[in-house]
Amino acid sequence: MKVIKTIEEMNAWSNACHKNDNTICFVPTMGNLHDGHLSLVDAAKEIAEKVVVSIYVNPTQFGENEDLDKYPRTEKQDLKQLESKNVDAVFMPISDEMYPKGINGNTNIEYADVPDLAAKLEGRARPEHFRGVATIVKKLFDCVLPDHAIFGEKDFQQLLIVKDMVVAQKLNVIIHSGAIVRDKDGLAKSSRNQYLSAEHRKKASILHQTLIAARRKIQSGNHDFSEIEAQSIEFISENGFLVDYFSILDADTLDKPREVNQVILVAANLGKTRLLDNMRVDAPKKP
Ligand code: PAJ
Repeated sequence: MKVIKTIEEMNAWSNACHKNDNTICFVPTMGNLHDGHLSLVDAAKEIAEKVVVSIYVNPTQFGENEDLDKYPRTEKQDLKQLESKNVDAVFMPISDEMYPKGINGNTNIEYADVPDLAAKLEGRARPEHFRGVATIVKKLFDCVLPDHAIFGEKDFQQLLIVKDMVVAQKLNVIIHSGAIVRDKDGLAKSSRNQYLSAEHRKKASILHQTLIAARRKIQSGNHDFSEIEAQSIEFISENGFLVDYFSILDADTLDKPREVNQVILVAANLGKTRLLDNMRVDAPKKP
């Protein structure tokens, strides 16, 4: 497994792959890898001959009161896990190269093409977040030169924004998605779960249970979405969460839901930990 730290070396490695007619599937991450990330690596191996994983904690997607410095950095462990998955290359760039003019410099892409998509849900709670995500994903694509890239459905809005950016900017990358990997009790795997107290950890699976209950209601013909949302919020709140949103929306646009193709998205705080989860009502389409 090749560990690559510079853009020049990454470009050269990828160009050599392409020269040998090998396609590349790219898995961008911020490290602190868990089974959710590793499932994307497994899927990537089925998609292309070569798999590149990036590990980079991207400063521009963190808000002012979100603690960038406290983001868990577990480089040694991460590399071990990727090595055991036979990943071909790991790209670990440094900020001086990704943001040569500093993180407030004019290297950010203006992702004005999808203001509606990026402004709602997570974008409302974290106004600069998706511009930061789109910026770094585009920069990483320019470094890794992938034919394919895969993102988790866990961050459903991020996945839609990346797909939209690829179309809007005519990028030559096919975007794939990987299903949410969960703990046994249903809690979606996340780096943030380690911050839950033992008591909160026990409660955390309620989000998943509530998503299942809401999906069942929709599938059994109840299309009073507002009522389902209100009942779900009440139930989650009664269990000690502070709910930011529980929304049933169209799974392609995140606009008002139609009679088919809905997604249910939830964000709620348990203590100081913000948990995200979602569930498609119908089976997702393949790219
Ligand atoms: P990070 O949070 O490290 O996640 C990397 C990828 O793993 C994302 O595509 C995310 O959706 C996926 N993922 C996380 N938890 C998952 C789970 N339980 N099941 C399946 N997939 C899961 O998302 C980011 O990093 C960053 O925003 C990034 C795209 C790397 C840009 O900086």
